Amino acid sequence: MGAAPSTPIHPLSMLTAVEVKRAVEIIKATGRVAEGALYAHIVLAEPDKATLAAWKPGVDPGRHVRAQIVPGPELELIEATVSLAQGVVTEWRVVTGERPTLLFRETANAMFTTRAHPEYIAALAKRGIIDVENVQIDTWPAGTFGYDAEQGRRIARCLSFVREFPTDNGYARPVEGLIVHFDLGRNEVIEVIDHGSVELPRAHARYMAADHQPLRADVKPLHITQPEGPSFAVAGNLIEWQKFAVRITFDPYEGLVLHGVTYEGRSIAHRLSMSEMVVPYGDPGEIHGFKNAFDAGEWGLGRMTQPLTLGCDCLGEIYYFDAVLATEGGKPWVIDNAICMHEEDYGVLWKHVDLFGGTSEVRRSRRLVISHIATVGNYEYGFYWYFYMDGNIQLEVKLSGILSVGAIEPGSLREFGNEVAPGVYAPFHQHMFCARLDLDVDGENNSVYEVEAERVPPGPGNPWGNAFRAKKTLLETEKAAQREVNPAVSRSWRVVSETARNGMGQPTSYKLVPTMSTPTLLAHETSSVGRRAEFAQHNLWVTPYAPAETRAAGDYPNQSSGGAGLPEWTAADRSLVDTDVVLWYSFGITHFPRPEDWPVMPTEYTGFLLSPVGFFDRNPALDVPPSEPGGNGSSCH
Ligand code: CO
Repeated sequence: MGAAPSTPIHPLSMLTAVEVKRAVEIIKATGRVAEGALYAHIVLAEPDKATLAAWKPGVDPGRHVRAQIVPGPELELIEATVSLAQGVVTEWRVVTGERPTLLFRETANAMFTTRAHPEYIAALAKRGIIDVENVQIDTWPAGTFGYDAEQGRRIARCLSFVREFPTDNGYARPVEGLIVHFDLGRNEVIEVIDHGSVELPRAHARYMAADHQPLRADVKPLHITQPEGPSFAVAGNLIEWQKFAVRITFDPYEGLVLHGVTYEGRSIAHRLSMSEMVVPYGDPGEIHGFKNAFDAGEWGLGRMTQPLTLGCDCLGEIYYFDAVLATEGGKPWVIDNAICMHEEDYGVLWKHVDLFGGTSEVRRSRRLVISHIATVGNYEYGFYWYFYMDGNIQLEVKLSGILSVGAIEPGSLREFGNEVAPGVYAPFHQHMFCARLDLDVDGENNSVYEVEAERVPPGPGNPWGNAFRAKKTLLETEKAAQREVNPAVSRSWRVVSETARNGMGQPTSYKLVPTMSTPTLLAHETSSVGRRAEFAQHNLWVTPYAPAETRAAGDYPNQSSGGAGLPEWTAADRSLVDTDVVLWYSFGITHFPRPEDWPVMPTEYTGFLLSPVGFFDRNPALDVPPSEPGGNGSSCH
């Protein structure tokens, strides 16, 4: 149900399978694509703001599609753009020295080729591992460490785990000390490195229901029913709910993308997305020291999204959207039920009991949830966008899945990680996300203020010493706007309209609120990942809108040497005053793994809130109707 229409009627309608096929036909007709070339991605070329604003409903939007083609094992990519209506290639740009995301076909080949390599088989045999078929090989993004043998190659590093049978949890038994450096483009082992073995941990780490009998017997059914259906309306990829409107698309790297977020037709945001993320590990050792996966740019939060199952991943009256990507062979790839949408009860929206008048008023809060879940190797990342009746918009990221582990002598002390099961070692690490928030609050002419509480010293005008005020600082340029969270002074960042005023004459605004404590990047600024993930060195960055500036660590983060993306763009220190601003919020979790995270992690949460400040003249949710009474003759109002 709920798939995108086959004929796009809007410039930002979801990419369709027909469009993917057509784009590849047009590209192949040029005769310039080598046999065996792979398509790293095929995506809708989003029109820039001016083009989008000029488009009139009913007019063919003249859609373009972008493809990134990998012709061979060298460091060469082709960035092609095609006009579907005209049937021609409009851009053909050869990029040298850069790498695509890790390709599924090549990483699958890496597993088979490594398993057949005599030195690898010998290293396993030395550890008493004979059943090579059941060895699980994780291909990791390689990072950038300047090894001579890796220059000019597209590589991965392979770590191994032993399964007792095909559906076993291999992470129970890390093959410690063994790492394979692999050339993905040429499908060949560069080097099998054996740093010495540790005995395989003995205990299994299974998490299926059959492995944990008896199951608890006191969980009674809990049903969410909406007898009259949900309160949202869907037309293609346009969603309307409780005065909000939003259009969604799906990107191989960013996953879910929100466009044109409005409330009663007033603009809040032009485009909201997850631009990049990185998981840097804090253990400097031989097996874990290289680990810093860019799960958006090196794997792809959209590419790794799995179909969702009704009643399991999402509960209630669910609407699913399919997502169309492209296979590396250039065929349409439809992820069924990739995006889930539903409503959730969210407790009390507002309440007051008038102790004098004897009235009691309460309204229930409800939120619209639009979500998808990416499985990036061992980890799952759920991205949940929430819309609330009081004008709030929130992103919550839910982290689950399985820790990336090694094996140690049981009971041995470690400085950079924890033993989470006997002999199973999980290094400390971070999950750093960077959301790109192109807010347009009542139009494009916005400025950004940092607002925080400021204590006033006792003295004349503050005789009791209780005073504090809201200190507002205009972030005038890009360098001044590189900021950190500070919960002690309730720091937030307000995106203020330079043109619109509310009923009190105040500029309308939305603020970005760090709802949970968040770190910045812990790896040193001069380290490899410190340079490559510079976006995570500050929680906030602000840039003036530029259509090509979309990915926080640059367009080619895989094996990058650093400096691309936010640090590159903001070097010009452009003005941010009274302009079309884009906020970049880097947030996340520093994960000190614990036994409770094993063998599969209970969900951990991170995220942020976008909240109206003077965008409305009063509580915008006074018109929410009271709920029906609970059936005991009582009334909710
Ligand atoms: Co973690």
